[in-house]
Formats: sequence, C-alpha cells, structure tokens
Amino acid sequence: MKLKTLTASTILPVAVISSSTPPAAFPASGNGLWYNTTGDVTGTLWSTTFLPIGNGYLAAMTPGGMEIEALQLNIESLWAGGPFQDPTYNGGNKLPNETTATHLALEGIRASIFANATGETEDVYPLTSPFPFYGSYVGAGYLITTMNVSSPATDFARWLDLDEGVARTTWTQSSSTFIRETFCSHPTEACVQFLNTSSNATLPGVTYAFSVLDSLLPTPPNITCQDSSTLKLRGFASEPGMLYEILAQVQSTGGLVSCNALDSTNATISVTGATETWISWVGGTEYSMDAGDEASNFSFQGPDPHEALVSLLSSADTESYQNVLAEHIADVNDVLYSQFSLSLGQVTDSRPTDEIVTGYEYNVGNPYLEWITFNYGRYMLASSARDTPWGGDYHADINVQMNYWSAEMSNLDVTSSLWNYIEKTWAPRGATTAQLIYNISRGWVTHDEMNIFGHTGMKGGPGEGNTAEWANYPVSAVWLVRMPSSQSDVTECSLHSRWLDLWDHFDYTNDVAWWQAQGYPLLKGVASFHLDTLIPDQHFNDGTLITAPCNSPEQVPITLGCAHTQQLIWQMFNAVEKGFNASGDTDTDFLDGKHRCNFSDSLNHVRDEREQDVSVLEVPFRCWFKEPEVIAKRSQMDKGIRIGWWGQLQEWKVNLDSPTDTHRHLSHLVGLYPGYAIASYDMGIQGGLIYNDTKFNYTKDEVMDAAMTSLIHRGNGTGPDADAGWEKAWRAAAWAQLGNASEFYFELTYTLYENFAPNLFSLYDPFDPVPIFQIDANFGFPAALLNGLLQAPDVASFDIPLVITLLPALPTNWPSGHLKGARTRGGITVDLDWSDGKPETVTLTVDESPISTSRNVQVVYAGKEVGSFTTSPNFATTIQSF
Ligand SMILES: *[C@@H]1O[C@H](CO)[C@@H](O)[C@H](O)[C@H]1NC(C)=O
Ligand SMILES: *[C@@H]1O[C@H](CO)[C@@H](O)[C@H](O)[C@H]1NC(C)=O
Ligand SMILES: *[C@@H]1O[C@H](CO)[C@@H](O)[C@H](O)[C@H]1NC(C)=O
Ligand SMILES: *[C@@H]1O[C@H](CO)[C@@H](O)[C@H](O)[C@H]1NC(C)=O
Ligand SMILES: *[C@@H]1O[C@H](CO)[C@@H](O)[C@H](O)[C@H]1NC(C)=O
Ligand SMILES: *[C@@H]1O[C@H](CO)[C@@H](O)[C@H](O)[C@H]1NC(C)=O
Ligand SMILES: *[C@@H]1O[C@H](CO)[C@@H](O)[C@H](O)[C@H]1NC(C)=O
Ligand SMILES: *[C@@H]1O[C@H](CO)[C@@H](O)[C@H](O)[C@H]1NC(C)=O
Ligand SMILES: *[C@@H]1O[C@H](CO)[C@@H](O)[C@H](O)[C@H]1NC(C)=O
Ligand SMILES: *[C@@H]1O[C@H](CO)[C@@H](O)[C@H](O)[C@H]1NC(C)=O
Repeated sequence: MKLKTLTASTILPVAVISSSTPPAAFPASGNGLWYNTTGDVTGTLWSTTFLPIGNGYLAAMTPGGMEIEALQLNIESLWAGGPFQDPTYNGGNKLPNETTATHLALEGIRASIFANATGETEDVYPLTSPFPFYGSYVGAGYLITTMNVSSPATDFARWLDLDEGVARTTWTQSSSTFIRETFCSHPTEACVQFLNTSSNATLPGVTYAFSVLDSLLPTPPNITCQDSSTLKLRGFASEPGMLYEILAQVQSTGGLVSCNALDSTNATISVTGATETWISWVGGTEYSMDAGDEASNFSFQGPDPHEALVSLLSSADTESYQNVLAEHIADVNDVLYSQFSLSLGQVTDSRPTDEIVTGYEYNVGNPYLEWITFNYGRYMLASSARDTPWGGDYHADINVQMNYWSAEMSNLDVTSSLWNYIEKTWAPRGATTAQLIYNISRGWVTHDEMNIFGHTGMKGGPGEGNTAEWANYPVSAVWLVRMPSSQSDVTECSLHSRWLDLWDHFDYTNDVAWWQAQGYPLLKGVASFHLDTLIPDQHFNDGTLITAPCNSPEQVPITLGCAHTQQLIWQMFNAVEKGFNASGDTDTDFLDGKHRCNFSDSLNHVRDEREQDVSVLEVPFRCWFKEPEVIAKRSQMDKGIRIGWWGQLQEWKVNLDSPTDTHRHLSHLVGLYPGYAIASYDMGIQGGLIYNDTKFNYTKDEVMDAAMTSLIHRGNGTGPDADAGWEKAWRAAAWAQLGNASEFYFELTYTLYENFAPNLFSLYDPFDPVPIFQIDANFGFPAALLNGLLQAPDVASFDIPLVITLLPALPTNWPSGHLKGARTRGGITVDLDWSDGKPETVTLTVDESPISTSRNVQVVYAGKEVGSFTTSPNFATTIQSF
C-alpha cells in the first residue's frame, strides 16, 4: 500500500522495545487504534500519525510522545482575517455602488448563454469580488510536557480508546511504567492530560510550557502566570486580529506545583515530587457568531473570553481527575453508543493499526478495519461538532454536506452546530448578497466557500482568473438545506464533507419546535431566493424554468439548467411543501400561488413588476404568477433529469457531456445519493415535461440505468484531476444505491486502501510526501457503509410510499452482523440482524410522534416486498421471513 514509505522510514523513533500485541488496557471490544511507535514527534507528519481528541470546540492532536509530548492545540473559532483584521470587512461582497453594473452584467451573462449555440459562456467574472481578509483557520500552538528523565524507554504503546474517547500512552523508562491519558471533555468544556506511573512512584520533574513553534500565529502570544498553578496565554490570530486565550491549570497528587515566569512573554509550570500530575486547559476567542448580523454591523465581536474561561476552569477545578474522566467516558458512551450500534461480524485483529492499514488491500478488505473506520468517523464527528461551529474553511459544494451524511442514520445528535452556523453566519449577509449580485430582495444566498465571518460573495476579482468552477455556486445553501461539502484545508477540524439536510433533520427527528424556530425559516429563506433565480429558458424556449448561469461544482461549462442545480432546487421545493403544515407558516401564497393565476388566460393575471420583467423578455409564458410560488414554479421547472446520447444521465441541459469525463464530483447524480430526484424518480411527477417536442416519459429503470452509465464513465475516483478519498466514498454510496454490492465494496475498500493514513485520517493526495488531511472521507465512509446496509431515500411527497430496503448491497465479506438503533426518515428506528448474507430479523418502530402519521412504508429485501405498514405513533413490527 502506498503509505508504506511514509510510515516505515519516517516515523520509527529511537530504539524502543515495543509490544506486538495490544496493550492490556486496550478495549476488549477492539474498538480503538493502537501503535507500538510514537507519531512523528517532529510534527511534520502529524496528518498521518497523530491521534485526535476533541469536545466540539476544543481539540488536540497527540503524537503519543514519551518524556517529551508536544500536543497540537485547536480552538474552533480561532481564525485569522475577517473584521478582526479589517473592520471594513464585507464578506467578499460587491460595493453598493457596483450594484447596477453587476445586475446588468448578470443580465448580459444570461443573454449570452441563451444566445450561444451550445448554451455556454466563458466566465462569470463580473459577478465575483476580491476576497481580502477571507482569513483562515489557525492552530493554537502546542502544549509541551517535558519529563526530567533521559534513559532509554521500552515497552511503548499508544492508543485511542474509541469506547471511552481517551488517548493513552504507556512506556517504561528509568524502571517506572508511565501512563499518560489525554481527552477533551464535553461536560466540563476542558481538555485534560494526566500522567502517573503504574506503581504510584514519584514522578521525575515535569514541566509544562506552551509553544507556537511552526504555527501560523503572527506574533508570539503573551504567556504569563495567572497564579502559582495556572498558565495564561493570550495572543492574536492575525496582525491585527482576533484575541484568543488559553488558561491551563496544573494539579498534582503530592509534590509541589510552581509557575515560573521566564520573561515577559513566556512562563512554564513545574511539578516536582508528585505521584500524579494533570493539566486542564480551556480556551476561547472574542469571536461571537451572535454578532454576525446587521444589528451588530457584522462585527462578530464577542466579549473578551477571559472571564468565561476563569469560571469554566474554576468549576473544573473542584472535581477530582477520576470524576472528570468518568463523566467524560459516560458522555462519550451516551452520545456514540447508547442509541446505536453496528457489527459487521468483525474479528479483532490484534496487529498495530498502522500495520493493519499498511497490509490492507481493496476488495480483499478486512471487516475489522472497516468497522473501526466507521466508528472513528462517528467519533470524529461527535468530537468536532458538538453544539458549536467549527474550524477550517467550509466548502459547501460537497464537503460540508458529506461531513454529516452519517449523522441522522446513525442517530448522532450533532447537527445543531451546523444549523446555528448557517443561521448566524450565512443567512444575515446572504440576504445582502442576494440583492447585490442577483437583484433579489427576498431570501438569501451563499456560494461555495465560506469562512466564519459571513463570507457570502463569489470569490474572484482581479488576478484570480476565471473562478467560476469554485465560485459560481449559489445553490450551496440549497444543498445544505438539502446538503453535502468538501474541505481542503490542512486543519484538524476541517469539515469538508457533511451532507446534511434541514429537511432530513426534521424528517428523522420529528422535532417540530426546532423546525418552526430554525429549520423551516432557513429553508424558506433559501427557497425564496431561488424562486427568483428560476427564469424562463430562452435557449431551448421549451416553457421550463431554469437557472443560469450555472455549472456543476468545480467544473465547467458555465451554462444553463444544470442537472445538479435543477435537482437540488426541485428537492428543496418538495421539502417546503412537505414541511409547510408543521411549520406554522401562514404564508400560503409562498407555498401555492395557483389561485392567483389563470392558466388559460394570460391577460387575466395580476399585473405587477414581475410581469413587466416577463414581457420585456418576450417569453411565451402561459402564465406568470404575481408571486411565483413554490408549488407553481416547481411544476414548471426543468427537473434536471434527462438521458443523453450515450445513455448517460445528462450533467447539463445542453448536450456537452463527455463519456471520458472522470471528474471527481458526481454532481448530476446528487439525486441518486444523497438526494432522491433519481433514487426515488417518479415518472408521474418528474416526467411529462414537454421539451423540444419530446415528452420526457422515462421509466424509473431507464433513469437508474442512465445514472449507472454516468457512474461507470465517471471512473473509480482516481482521475487526472484528483485522487481524494471523498470522491470514492461518494461513489461507494452511489453504487450501494444502485444495489451493486461488489462495486460498492470495491469503492469503500478502495478509499481505505488508497487514501487512509496509518492514523486513519483520509488524505487528499496520498502520494504527497507531507499529505494534506481532508476529513471528508472520514465522514463519508460511515455514511457510505450504512448505505450498503439500509436505505430509505426521501420521496417527493408523503403520498408516495417510503421504501425501506434491507441489505441493499451487502458485501460477501460481511455475511453476518447487526444494526441497532439505526434511523430512517419518517421517525423510524430499525434493528436489523443478518446472517449467511440474509436478514434474519428486523424490527421497525415508529416514534411516539412522527410528523406524518398514516404514511405508507414498504419494507423491501432483494427486490421483493417483505412487509408493509402505515405509520402511527409507537407502531412496531417485526419481520422474520425473507
Ligand atoms: C510492532 O509490532 C509489530 C508486530 O505486529 C512488530 O513487527 C514490530 O517490530 C513492532 N515494532 C516495534 C518498534 O517494536
Ligand atoms: C465605489 O465606492 C468606493 C468607495 O466606497 C470607491 O472607492 C469606488 O471608486 C466607487 N466606484 C465607483 C465605480 O464609483
Ligand atoms: C459559445 O460559448 C463558448 C464558451 O464561451 C464559446 O467557446 C463558443 O465559441 C460559443 N459559441 C458560439 C457559436 O458563439
Ligand atoms: C533533572 O533530574 C536530575 C537528577 O535526576 C537533577 O540533577 C536535575 O537538576 C533535574 N533537572 C531539572 C531541570 O529539574
Ligand atoms: C499514591 O500515593 C499517594 C501519596 O503520594 C496516595 O495519596 C495515593 O493514595 C496513592 N495511590 C495509590 C493508588 O496507591
Ligand atoms: C517558553 O519556554 C519553554 C521552555 O524553554 C519553551 O519550550 C517554549 O517554546 C517557550 N514558548 C514560547 C512561546 O516561547
Ligand atoms: C502582550 O503584552 C504586551 C505588552 O504588555 C501588550 O502590548 C499586548 O497587548 C499583549 N498581548 C495580548 C494579546 O494581550
Ligand atoms: C431538438 O429536436 C430536433 C429535431 O429532433 C433536433 O435536431 C435538435 O438537436 C434537438 N435539440 C436539442 C437541443 O436537443
Ligand atoms: C414514451 O414515449 C414514447 C414516444 O411517445 C413511446 O414510444 C414510449 O413507449 C413511451 N414510454 C413510456 C414508458 O411511456
Ligand atoms: C482506478 O482508475 C484509474 C484511472 O482509470 C486506474 O489507473 C486505476 O488502476 C484504477 N484503480 C483500481 C484499483 O482499479
């Protein structure tokens, strides 16, 4: 396997006699990662060798050092740039005096697309803006723990216990066996590193220091003694920039703790004569997501974090280490395992994890490693997304979305941070962007790349060339209100691929209060905007509504009616309709404008500004709505489902697909997975479109075949453009959706083989000598894996039965196993046992208050219906014959 070179030559430390079997305290379940060598203590290869811990806002990466441990620190809101660096920061938007020119440019771009023979245009440059002070996530430096011992070490092992969410290191040196434990606790909001020996011997002198070595921080922070046992670090993320602070308090059993100021900018804490010592740290910044709106002048300015940190630390202070640890373990168990469990029938492989990874082969597989990688993905999601925003830059054209793909199905309560991030940093300035670029005065819009400072404009401007491939993505929020993402940044907590959906969250959880307060208003904001981006198709003049300019994410041409965009908007409009009743919204005009329009008499409808627009465009429209509402526009829009000349699902409305295009994104297959425009294609609803005198009457089989043809031609996720992990995870999920177990397992194992490092981080380019960690595949993997075991794609309306398919793509390598507590939409919990490659028993339980009662559900295995029921509160059924 390709990472061999990385692991073997670069990482082995000085001579250490190590174990070749897991340490005694390694979880009996096998649920963890372990190594008999330290990570790359120089830090260069942190992305392939360090192990992650986190509590949702603080995180750390540990190499598992011995007498010197250099822990990489992270505070999720620590960003350079934005209004902290430039108070006039405007989210990469146009200036008000550029509005008229921008609107004219947009009209010109649309006109040129319509007039062009192949429906293309060169670029969208006039819509873009420069993005000074876009900023970037910044690491918070290192916590260095040094022990005054120098003799050779033996019996080294380090591991990440995934049952407990604790990283541990043990080794023997100077005749003591040392144990170091590190974790970040959600209950106490602090991280802790604990050190003792197995025999309760007195520890050599221990020193704690902060270092900003090789971090991107501009000026060294001030490090002082807050008191005799507490270090205080204060610095700025950029120059000028956001203030941040870390407070770290040291406690010990026995011995003496003292804080020593070395000079005006540095201090250390020493512990002598103790049998146990531990350091607890809390960190924060002056960033506040609550100040990202007009009322706060988009300042994102919160209070100095100092007081809050002092009070956090003082409450952590009162508890014993053992209590803090026990509370943390209980919390991890509660979040990750109390509701949900998976078995792939795996047998624990006792080799060190790096050796398992190195020996792993695609197709051959190893159910144990696949199971660990699944658990690790959920662990990382829970460690990075607990009720808070996150670090890294957010690409919302697959990455952010993919990151959450597994959350709902595996019953992880981690999504509120994402909704808050969208509500507080996208929506407020996105409303201005809608006006500035698109001349749309309702709803809001964002584009592909986002920071934490409300960057909503289209990235571009002088010197950036044609950035349309990345920038021209006004449906980023559509995907997030039905959403996936990719993250290309080098940060530990980068959220690249969370596919999550406001609507899905509601459909899975029945949380009406949340839907009314947050979910639906966000959805309505995005849907409102897109009601106005849909315009009559003046290229084909086929009477449909399309968007233009559009392009598939990160791919040209720039054209009209792109399948990706059309499918996403159509799915979003369905979500509005399905969720309307529960939303409490009384704006029925928004949902259904039919009553305002007379289809047979175009002179009969209400005259207003919009109508003027239409007549100016001279479109032969049968009807125009006073307010172009959701249901009416949905019926007129191009649904983005079209079969092309080589049998493919067309990526663009114009005929430009190349059979040799192996692009990393499966943008036009968004309706196959994770969406449903393809997977639940319904001829009665999506067919019947009149287009170029052709009635679009594809059957579902034809559409699925076309999607498969596209998927085959798209290649295996290793192409000339990229060899990333997430593209393979997406392909795996798509193959599972097509019910193809062998292709599904190939892609799933191929990404593990090709892209996963010894520490099971997924890498953007596995051949890079210093590879970039791209977290997407870590989150895409569990979602894809689940899609091979259980599927229940969404449907356009509650009148259409929900089809739950059991073991749709079960690989022969997982002949027996179970899923407990898996969730499907409709508020249904699924417990499934299988053996000999077949279901043995499945129990489906409807929640106490599903959003839709009397919804028809069909349970399918191997293409035949094995059960059916109508949802009602607490309904449960068990099926045992297949
Ligand atoms: C780690 O364990 C493997 C056996 O799985 C062994 O081959 C290797 O030598 C061990 N490494 C060290 C540094 O002891
Ligand atoms: C727009 O306003 C900015 C300052 O707000 C100014 O620098 C720029 O020259 C103006 N542009 C035009 C075209 O008037
Ligand atoms: C259509 O637009 C494309 C892209 O800008 C361009 O290469 C092509 O020449 C145009 N076709 C015509 C007929 O103008
Ligand atoms: C380290 O320990 C040795 C004795 O083992 C002692 O002489 C020395 O002063 C210690 N160094 C520090 C920095 O504490
Ligand atoms: C370890 O030693 C300390 C005294 O230094 C004592 O208070 C504690 O109970 C001992 N712990 C164990 C597990 O023996
Ligand atoms: C502070 O001093 C310690 C001990 O010399 C050193 O390891 C650390 O890098 C210093 N930190 C800074 C920020 O200079
Ligand atoms: C660090 O200390 C210097 C000198 O006292 C002060 O000017 C500066 O503002 C301090 N930095 C921070 C982040 O508090
Ligand atoms: C429309 O149909 C005509 C006649 O079948 C065909 O020549 C033309 O290529 C079609 N246009 C498109 C855009 O498919
Ligand atoms: C679709 O329409 C074509 C042409 O009218 C017809 O030949 C074909 O049988 C229809 N297919 C279906 C599935 O209705
Ligand atoms: C994946 O596709 C690439 C490009 O076609 C090819 O070079 C590579 O061998 C394929 N990998 C596997 C494992 O099939």
